[in-house]
Amino acid sequence: MLLSHTRSTLIAAALASAICGSGPALAVESTTVHPGQWPRATWPFPADATLEKRVADLMARMSVEEKVGQLIQADITTVTPDDVRKYRLGSILAGGDSKPHGQRFATPAQWKALSDEFYRAAMDTSGGHVAIPLLFGIDAVHGHNDTRGATLFPQNSALGAAHDPALIREIGAATAAEVRATGIQWTFAPTIAVPQDLRWGRAYEGYSQDPKLVAEYAAAMVEGLQGKVGTPQFLDSSHVVATAKHFLGDGGTKNGKDEGDTEVSETVLRTLHAAGYPPAIDAGVQTVMASFSSWNGVKMHGNKALLTDVLKGRMDFQGFVVGDWNGHGQVPGCTKEDCPTSINAGVDMLMAPDSWRGLYEHTLAEVKSGVIPMARVDDAVARILRVKIRAGLFEAGLPSAQPLASKAADIVGSPAHRALARRAVRESLVLLKNNDGLLPLDPRKHILVAGNGADNISRQSGGWTLNWQGTGFKNEDFPGAQSIGAGIAEQVKAAGGVAEIAADGHYTAKPDVAVVVFGEDPYAEFEGDLPNLLYHPGDDRDLALIRRLRGDGIPVVAVFLSGRPLWVNREMNAADAFVAAWLPGSEGGGVADVLLRTRDGRVANDFRGRLAYAWPSTAVQDQGVPLFPLGHGLTYADHQSLPRLPEESGITEAPAPTDNYVEHGKPVRGYTLMLTGADGAASAAEAATSATTDGSLRMTGVDYKAQEDARQFVWNKEGARLAIQAKTPLDLDREATSDTLLVVTLRVDALAKTGAWASMGCGKHCGGHIELGAQLGKLKAGQWTRLGIPLRCFRALGVDMHHIDQPLVLEAGKGTQLGIASVALGNQADQTMDCPR
Ligand code: BGC
Ligand code: BGC
Repeated sequence: MLLSHTRSTLIAAALASAICGSGPALAVESTTVHPGQWPRATWPFPADATLEKRVADLMARMSVEEKVGQLIQADITTVTPDDVRKYRLGSILAGGDSKPHGQRFATPAQWKALSDEFYRAAMDTSGGHVAIPLLFGIDAVHGHNDTRGATLFPQNSALGAAHDPALIREIGAATAAEVRATGIQWTFAPTIAVPQDLRWGRAYEGYSQDPKLVAEYAAAMVEGLQGKVGTPQFLDSSHVVATAKHFLGDGGTKNGKDEGDTEVSETVLRTLHAAGYPPAIDAGVQTVMASFSSWNGVKMHGNKALLTDVLKGRMDFQGFVVGDWNGHGQVPGCTKEDCPTSINAGVDMLMAPDSWRGLYEHTLAEVKSGVIPMARVDDAVARILRVKIRAGLFEAGLPSAQPLASKAADIVGSPAHRALARRAVRESLVLLKNNDGLLPLDPRKHILVAGNGADNISRQSGGWTLNWQGTGFKNEDFPGAQSIGAGIAEQVKAAGGVAEIAADGHYTAKPDVAVVVFGEDPYAEFEGDLPNLLYHPGDDRDLALIRRLRGDGIPVVAVFLSGRPLWVNREMNAADAFVAAWLPGSEGGGVADVLLRTRDGRVANDFRGRLAYAWPSTAVQDQGVPLFPLGHGLTYADHQSLPRLPEESGITEAPAPTDNYVEHGKPVRGYTLMLTGADGAASAAEAATSATTDGSLRMTGVDYKAQEDARQFVWNKEGARLAIQAKTPLDLDREATSDTLLVVTLRVDALAKTGAWASMGCGKHCGGHIELGAQLGKLKAGQWTRLGIPLRCFRALGVDMHHIDQPLVLEAGKGTQLGIASVALGNQADQTMDCPR
């Protein structure tokens, strides 16, 4: 924590507000905002009568329907050009998993073609409509990461370690060019969160825990993406509209829970979490995205004081506020298809990926009835139109015909952009241990590159890479990219040495030295939230690998791939040298540039990265003194030896997983399997063979992949059921708004005609059942299948997803026989159910 939230600061704030006369005297309301105390910013665009006249002329010709259309943004997976032609939507987005026409990958040509189709629809005036080009937005958050073959820059937590705003500006410009070359004009970046808790699954999207660094970078990235205000380059055809996100306090949520509650004083919110906004506004950022999170219990999507009074008032932000992915639907009293509160609070454009149609209808009705004042609508539309005009969209013409688009092949993943990304990799590596000066390595030696990240471009790139979570890809899916191992091998070979890449560390001839590259599996948003700072709890494979190689007498350099610092004291002890490489992206060669000497023995690139996040000394988040403070990082000139570190993690009892319930036929820690008979008597199934007292449901051990690694359930009467009982209720609400599945690995041995049903428990009167019989009937009897039930189906039935005490309840008719091997949350299944209507 950089700022302590002490009583005295609260009192000081209260006194200040009493003196200024803003807000109730001395009453420190935790949700009261005092705009007068917030920093000012200066909107860098002088009043522009020509622009205002254009806006006024357009608006004079627009119907209320057309105005409402401008306020709504739909995702390309649910909206068609014909919909845009009809509803006159102001914007479309491609979410992390959304590609043209449902493809797995998108190429520049496909983005351009899609953008053209939508552009034509928006400009079609045949229905007597006003032609208003739409803004097409995408998450280009570490390069144009949803595009195959694009340059993937290091993720933001890595860039923080570079402490180099000029580099950030160049990365912004390169990213803008790649995006623009694919016919897209808007990126949802930069994230200017100031993450305070490393357990947060989005910590890697933030540059630093230090508000000063975030503030410097915010301005640099906005300038890089949009161009510098006042120059001819500003929002020209090689730049894109930027988004400062997520306003406000996204990096301060309690326990690092994504989309959670930021329980801090107004002072902390203002001085710490808001640090990047004034510089971003001064740099002319055109859009700001509202945060999913709350401030002291109030959802940001409904916080008028902060969105309107502070951001648009005090900070003079005159661009538009875009909502986050159905974020408005989380405001009390709202649904994703209906939320006047958000618009009235100051959100100008609602991100309604799949909900746009209902939202459009409701919003239109609310504008007509006055629930949303016309003045508010006009303000929002004017803001959106001004951004479109400043971005030159009215003159730009067909996206594919714009200057960079015709040169996409030379721009997307260009050698110049890759060289820049590689430089960023070099600058962001942080050296934490280099005992006996093991580094730099002599490339003329025999070097083994081992570990799960040795040759794994997906792992070195992290989430928001080709898809939302960044999972499910092979190296072939990244044309033009280089793995860390391949980068080392290339330079070692060129120098006359021998390089061997073996993830499992099995070498043919004993190497002189080993580089073990290992780290986190890719993740995004809430899927990356952690209960503590343990790295891969329960799986010590990387540690064992380092120890084995050391045991063979081979010196080891550990290269750790992670979005955030984690507790890795044991790995640090086991290795001779330790490098924090973060998530470096597609140019793995940058690691070799620093780790290896040149062939003639020189150091070409020393380490220059310094921690932008303090490194923890235990796996407990709230600790006193960190192992390595902010700003720490060794160079080759530091001849320091890291003494042996303590190996107690500080975690006594590991918390139960929240996404995994049954494994190898057994409930995992924190869960029990309950059998309830037709007579209503419930008992815990502790042994592999169990039954209800009335014998209506029996369980026995059966084989899935190994002996007795699954259970078979036999229903002998109607009305019996099994349930997975959680010791601590789960909050699966966020998962239920995405495509997360409850994945049950099962086998149907017999099925009663009366059917089978799945439900979830959330206390008394908890929603209905999902009919499973028809789906199970389609499965091949006796064969194991991973069946996916979308969580949103349960939610649609009225299940309170915030308090799930039974993540699965299964009921079936007499005669049903089912095998179950595992139950977990996931994104992939062999068969995915549709929600019953
Ligand atoms: C994220 C945003 C992102 C948006 C669109 C949301 O879930 O919070 O950061 O821009 O999705 O993909
Ligand atoms: C989308 C992301 C979005 C997420 C939020 C995903 O399906 O692709 O862009 O941020 O859902 O739930």
